[in-house]
Amino acid sequence: MSQLSKTVVLITGASSGIGEATARKLAQQSNFSLVLVARNQQKLETLAEELSAHSSADVMVYPLDLTKLELIPAMVEAVLNRLGRLDVVLQVAGAGDFKPALDINLEEVVNQFQLNTLAGIVLSQAAGQQMVKQGNGKILIVASMSGKLPTPQSSVYAASKSAINTYAAALEMELESSGIAVTVVNPGPVRTPFFDHSSTMQDYIQNVDRFAMDVDQVAQKLANLVLKTGSMPREVNMPFTMRLAYWGHRFFPNLARWLTMRFANFK
Ligand SMILES: NC(=O)c1ccc[n+]([C@@H]2O[C@H](COP(=O)([O-])OP(=O)(O)OC[C@H]3O[C@@H](n4cnc5c(N)ncnc54)[C@H](OP(=O)(O)O)[C@@H]3O)[C@@H](O)[C@H]2O)c1
Repeated sequence: MSQLSKTVVLITGASSGIGEATARKLAQQSNFSLVLVARNQQKLETLAEELSAHSSADVMVYPLDLTKLELIPAMVEAVLNRLGRLDVVLQVAGAGDFKPALDINLEEVVNQFQLNTLAGIVLSQAAGQQMVKQGNGKILIVASMSGKLPTPQSSVYAASKSAINTYAAALEMELESSGIAVTVVNPGPVRTPFFDHSSTMQDYIQNVDRFAMDVDQVAQKLANLVLKTGSMPREVNMPFTMRLAYWGHRFFPNLARWLTMRFANFK
């Protein structure tokens, strides 16, 4: 089968955790051209070699620091030059740190918003313009339950994820008539290297381990959304306990706040 007939999926955050696991699932499940994006070129190339050797996927790597927002449209252009189309953009790259709101420094604030919010907006725009020309496409964005259920010590991370949720909700309505789906996936805690960056984060994931998901569960959900035909959900909140917590937060905000302070003040 020629490269042009394969579904082209660009995955950011493909060097680790959820993005890497989803790339593996997609390579196993169907006939894709995968574009793997993250900063760590070595990890991307190692994964690309492995996937090319053990599946029918064509794999391209595109090392990029997504906080360099002005370089994102050129990445989309490079994919189009090489593969001719862009069917799915799976935006997984993200980072955060849990710190008191009054202590987090400006560089960290800017970095989290650049990566978790602005890169998502710029990539959605560049990819969306191409998808409108094609008449179809999917924009899948991994945000976080933190953006729906803010907790102490997560202010900046939660705000950056909340912002991309709101952006995606508006984008979804604008693109509906163009045949382009926009779906946000908000996972609760997932066991990944995300928490390796500080002792506070390591303590947090240990404290919530009984609620945490395996990375494969989230990767399978994302792979299913990539493969899904027909109508797409606008939002996926997972796991079920987090979905319940979100409904509680919406309808009983004072009770939810009390429960958060009493039981979810782990960070
Ligand atoms: N783990 C959780 O509990 C959890 C829960 C809810 C939501 N999420 C979200 O899920 C997504 C994936 O997280 P994960 O758990 O898989 O974490 P992870 O294992 O730390 O993976 C993060 C990915 O983002 C990439 N990345 C980080 N900074 C980047 C930058 N400046 N430019 C380009 N790529 C960058 C990393 O690659 P490089 O370092 O190679 O650049 C890596 O591939 C994130 O958006 C996170 O906010 C995670």
